[in-house]
Amino acid sequence: MTSITTMQPKGQVFPPPTAFQSQALIQSVAAYEALWNYAKDNPEAFWGGQATSLLTWDMPWGVVRTGTGMQSQWFTGGYLNASVNCLDRHLETQGDKLALIAEGEPGEVWRLTYRDLHREVCKLANGLRSLGLQQGDVVAIYMPMVPELVIAVLACARLGLMHSVIFAGFSAEAIRSRNADAQAKLIITADGLYRRGAVIPLKETVDHSLEGASSVEHVLVYQRTGASVSMHPGRDLWWHDLMAMQSETCAPVSVPAEHPLFLLYTSGSTGTPKGIVHTTAGYLLGTALSHRYIFDLKPTDRYWCTADAGWITGHSYVIYGPLCNGTTVVMYEGAPNFPDWARFWKIIETHGVTQFYTAPTAIRSLMQQGDAWPEKHDLSSLRLLGTVGEPINPKAWMWFHEKIGKTRCPIVDTWWQTETGAIMIAPLPGAISTKPGCATRPFFGIVPDVVDHHGVPVGENQGGLLVVRQPWPSMLRTIHGDHDRFLSQYCQVVPGDVYFTGDGARRDADGDYWILGRVDDVLNVAGHRLSTMEIESALVSHPTVAEAAVVGKPDEVRGEAICCFVTLKATEHAGGELKKQLQFHVVAQIGALARPQEIRFVQALPKTRSGKIMRRLLRDLAADRPIAGDVSTLEDLATLDTIRAASTEDDT
Ligand code: WTA
Repeated sequence: MTSITTMQPKGQVFPPPTAFQSQALIQSVAAYEALWNYAKDNPEAFWGGQATSLLTWDMPWGVVRTGTGMQSQWFTGGYLNASVNCLDRHLETQGDKLALIAEGEPGEVWRLTYRDLHREVCKLANGLRSLGLQQGDVVAIYMPMVPELVIAVLACARLGLMHSVIFAGFSAEAIRSRNADAQAKLIITADGLYRRGAVIPLKETVDHSLEGASSVEHVLVYQRTGASVSMHPGRDLWWHDLMAMQSETCAPVSVPAEHPLFLLYTSGSTGTPKGIVHTTAGYLLGTALSHRYIFDLKPTDRYWCTADAGWITGHSYVIYGPLCNGTTVVMYEGAPNFPDWARFWKIIETHGVTQFYTAPTAIRSLMQQGDAWPEKHDLSSLRLLGTVGEPINPKAWMWFHEKIGKTRCPIVDTWWQTETGAIMIAPLPGAISTKPGCATRPFFGIVPDVVDHHGVPVGENQGGLLVVRQPWPSMLRTIHGDHDRFLSQYCQVVPGDVYFTGDGARRDADGDYWILGRVDDVLNVAGHRLSTMEIESALVSHPTVAEAAVVGKPDEVRGEAICCFVTLKATEHAGGELKKQLQFHVVAQIGALARPQEIRFVQALPKTRSGKIMRRLLRDLAADRPIAGDVSTLEDLATLDTIRAASTEDDT
């Protein structure tokens, strides 16, 4: 493939609303372009200047950037601490300002000022130190979206421990493999979390993940629900017992700029999740700077990002970026439809939310419930909306714009990735006109391009591979324990020293970027990244399965649905019962987010003469589209007809 065929919708353009623009940090395209060009031509001066003004350093750096290209290091010689940047430095000027307003699903509200959050983080950090944890150790966190999750993250940062947050929807198997890769010494969890009124037993899942050999020495359990859990003597401790003994101050550990701040596992195009490594200074700078400009921060804002902290969006835009900027952050533990579909709108009204940042999949499901839900609530506190994680379709964009933003709020469609650490492409809301479904312009210091497989830029409006030409401070440094995989997946796919994103894109005549979705075997289901290979290996680990091929199928709400083509060792097992078993098996291996929507039993998978599964054909079959393109490399054309026949039977 040298270029991607694209549809070019002739859509509407929305200039920044005048009232918004007149008070924005960046108020014109000219101002945006001047700063973007300056950063592109003088990256070190730009990033160095921002690092001085946005971060608090214990020791200043010597050089802004060392190393070459995508293997650069930033701010070498400098020392700092991430929790000091998020907490201590705000104490004198705004210690009594709210840092967190958090709602539990049952309805309780916790309000923590910067001083409160600092105190709790210090206490927990002292507790972690008393358990023998030292700079560089890994702490896994498997928690509900309650303030204690933020406290746990920042306590790790205070001691220079790397956190590895695991989304609370992952299975015991997924926790086990991540902890084994990271060699985590401690896991912080809770007795459970509330989801749609039910208690999800987190501790029990953690217990299963620890059966057999494990590097984990202790389990720290926060009591969230009061559900009964079994505590393993010598290994398990209660959060409240540990906290009760701790002093309220804790000297932070000053770490080098490049000290790894955290690991976060994400899916790639191969079977095993990769531990993305982010560093302290570069990551903090990227998140703080982008958060300030893209959300056009004001000191009085009440900013709400609905992402779970188990994903990068939660790390960067619930915790580090906003707290580094001294923002009041709104958090919510539970489901958008509990007790009913007005919950999000009620939270906005109750807490006076000013910026609301969420995923297109959430917008589509909220939209499906009808306009009566948002109409019940006063949403006039909102001044900006944002989306992240997947392409937003124009219909959902328009609904968000009209029914939630009442045409008064700009929408920032933010494109970025776990690996990029911070937002890369998004409209600056006071300067750039938005177009439904378009991420628009690169952020300051970010130089993207659209190229073919040889690294040659493609023309205007032509689809190609999205790459980034210059290194930036918040990019991943490596994949934990596998630097070769980092090089081969990000730095060597496209010739030239460029970062390959795995996404396709096109750039239009205005210089705006349209993201076209993944060009590798990564699915995006409800904004969650999943690897087809990971689901395939889960399926073939079931005793009845011979081979499996997993593809995405278009889905109105979730963006993509998981469709599995499966061949069995003995065909007599095929049937509804086995389908259920296989769904259950995938959930046990990975987690509920990977539950296949559809399983189709087939006689054989379509393969090329060299034995590669032709996923392109399966994607067409899954979507019930006619097969597009060339089938001349298919080994046995008859396979296609049998699969199509099988699919029709199965769909009934
Ligand atoms: C997709 C989430 C279109 C993209 C922050 C990317 C998007 C992957 C957008 C990263 C957007 C993210 N428009 N697609 N605004 N934002 N994506 O690592 O395919 O969970 O490569 O990071 O999500 O997913 P990840």
